[in-house]
Amino acid sequence: MSEAKRLAGEKAIEYVEDGMIVGVGTGSTVAYFIDALAGIKDRIKGAVSSSDQSTERLRSHGIEVMDLNATGPLSLYVDGADECDPHKRLIKGGGAALTREKIIAEASRTFVCIIDPSKRVDVLGRFPLPIEVIPMARSLVAREIVARTGGQPVWREGVVTDNGNLVLDVHNLSITDPVGLEADLNQVPGVVSVGLFARRGADVVIVGGEPPTLL
Ligand code: 5RP
Repeated sequence: MSEAKRLAGEKAIEYVEDGMIVGVGTGSTVAYFIDALAGIKDRIKGAVSSSDQSTERLRSHGIEVMDLNATGPLSLYVDGADECDPHKRLIKGGGAALTREKIIAEASRTFVCIIDPSKRVDVLGRFPLPIEVIPMARSLVAREIVARTGGQPVWREGVVTDNGNLVLDVHNLSITDPVGLEADLNQVPGVVSVGLFARRGADVVIVGGEPPTLL
């Protein structure tokens, strides 16, 4: 699948315009995008990064990483996904960067999602849904998830997010109302972010292939 990821990442460069500050997601597909961005780095102002991992890769290419508070709204955000449905609603957070990813997606006019074909599903939920939680609320949130969804939350042990929080992965969901579930889980005290990008999904999805296709 890495060839498909590379093709998707490179195609996304077509959305970058001169003088832009580019929002940059996290993951192995985004790594290809960052490497391609390096080839046109003199044409952009810089990037806003969604993770320490992406920040490191951007800086290694000499791309300036900027603070979202200083840049204001962005024109473009490019990020991967763990699942994508036909309405361009996503599950994200496999790399535990969901909160910052969600913030940058919200701040951006256009969200271009880059995926390989294995990420496409008819109904979200085969990939366990990541939820970032405040450490002291881990058990409380897990109980609430069982009660509200019937899914099985599993603590991603050993993982601490860039924000110092924990991740629960919720298994056995079939998410027929992603917008409703996102809103519902966001109400639970201790939940920082839900890895459903449904209310604000992607605007464009690039599926890597020869040639890449657009959703
Ligand atoms: C990180 C993410 C990633 O976009 C998602 O996990 C996809 O990763 P990859 O491109 O490595 O398959 O949401 O939190």
